[in-house]
Amino acid sequence: MNPFPRLPGQRFLHSPGPTRLPDEVLHAMSRQPLDLADPRLDPIIAACESGLKRLLRTRDAQVLMYAANGHGAWEAAVANLLSPGRAALIPGTGHFSESWALQTEALGAEAVRTPWREGRPIDVEAVAQALHEDRRHRIAAVFCVHTDTASGVSSDLQALRAALDAAGHPALFVVDVVASLGVVPFDMDALRADVVIGASQKGLMLPPGLGFVAVN
Ligand SMILES: Cc1ncc(COP(=O)(O)O)c(C=O)c1O
Repeated sequence: MNPFPRLPGQRFLHSPGPTRLPDEVLHAMSRQPLDLADPRLDPIIAACESGLKRLLRTRDAQVLMYAANGHGAWEAAVANLLSPGRAALIPGTGHFSESWALQTEALGAEAVRTPWREGRPIDVEAVAQALHEDRRHRIAAVFCVHTDTASGVSSDLQALRAALDAAGHPALFVVDVVASLGVVPFDMDALRADVVIGASQKGLMLPPGLGFVAVN
């Protein structure tokens, strides 16, 4: 039974995602999959990689794709970038910085948080302070959420890059563009971002379940 009898037509959710799928994407999913050895597969994968690189604005980064949601791509970053005893500095943006911090801890690494205020972008001063205090360089990476989906607020990544440079801290600059890629201007090479993490279901207008990590 239709629970919305007086609302005919399609229902749209206007949030950062999951977004509505264009009809071309829905139709593409009804095609038969290709065999792994099918020679038509390589050019499709190459086109996905080069298209993502164009969107990320990177010339030389390598794009690694995962049959995983955004949490899977986050996990790839935590598992591969943080060796035992090292920490990630996770500037507070709200719900998603906190979720990433909890995941980092669940995987056995340390998360250093900066405070966040609802609806406000990353406090760059607090990040600079945390880097300054980390004299022994236990922080191996800074995990920044570009747009926090829960509030829709985007942070100033150039200012964060400048804070890392000014601190002279060797931490890797890792950016989550799950909600921002294709929506908010982003330039991986100009930012000198080391690792960028994305997923399919928001600005890319695909079904959930594909994650990617771009590494410089
Ligand atoms: C900014 C951001 N990062 C990471 C995630 C996690 O992605 P997923 O829900 O696909 O695991 C989300 C999900 O909404 C998100 O909005």
